[in-house]
Amino acid sequence: MNKKKIFIAVDTNKISKARRIIRDTQTNEIKIGYKFGLEFFYSKEGRKFISSLKNQIIFLDLKLNDIPNTVVSAMKSLNSLKISYLTVHLSSGMSALKAIRKESKNIKIAGVTTLTSLNNKDLKEIGYNKKVNELVKHQVKLAKKAKLDAIVCSGHEIRSVKRVFKKEIITPGIKIHTTKNDQKRVMKPMDAFTAGSDWLVIGRSITNGNIKKNFKNLLEILED
Ligand code: C5P
Repeated sequence: MNKKKIFIAVDTNKISKARRIIRDTQTNEIKIGYKFGLEFFYSKEGRKFISSLKNQIIFLDLKLNDIPNTVVSAMKSLNSLKISYLTVHLSSGMSALKAIRKESKNIKIAGVTTLTSLNNKDLKEIGYNKKVNELVKHQVKLAKKAKLDAIVCSGHEIRSVKRVFKKEIITPGIKIHTTKNDQKRVMKPMDAFTAGSDWLVIGRSITNGNIKKNFKNLLEILED
């Protein structure tokens, strides 16, 4: 059977914490990748640290959202890093998505649908007329047309995304305990795998508090 796959979100601006997260989440039981986002990448030594990592699956979650020329140039600036996945907002539009996909070579481009921190009320406030599930369905068609490699969506939309998009699905907003933090569309790990997600993204449920203990707890949950 294929191993379950988890990206640990290394959301910190401290190299020492990043090292600790990586050290305390080593296992052969499941496949682990590390997701670095804005906080870490923008930190003083962040990029250098990422470039020093060897033999890791690296997911750079920069959520690019700009005009085609800028997103492609930004991606090219990352060429020296051995990253496996890079995120772009699907709301950047078709031209930007196609342009980045054309130039991405070995980097898998993951399209970000509506953020897991937003619900219907938030969308209305921003000015969207569609509800979350309709908007995500719409966004996924763009990802398919632009031939992106992966979709980032909440657990709530996995099943509807899978009907349209046949490649990898990455799911953030995963909570081991009941605490939601700032997330609104959350799901438990096993429910997201059962719904068909390929990779789960887990951050604070593991990295807040005792990392080793939290990680052991996660491995136990995934065994059931
Ligand atoms: O701590 P938590 O598990 O909520 O972290 C989730 C991670 O996934 C964060 O790094 C966040 O930036 C990222 N993410 C998300 N929702 C998306 C895309 C990425 O929460 N739609």
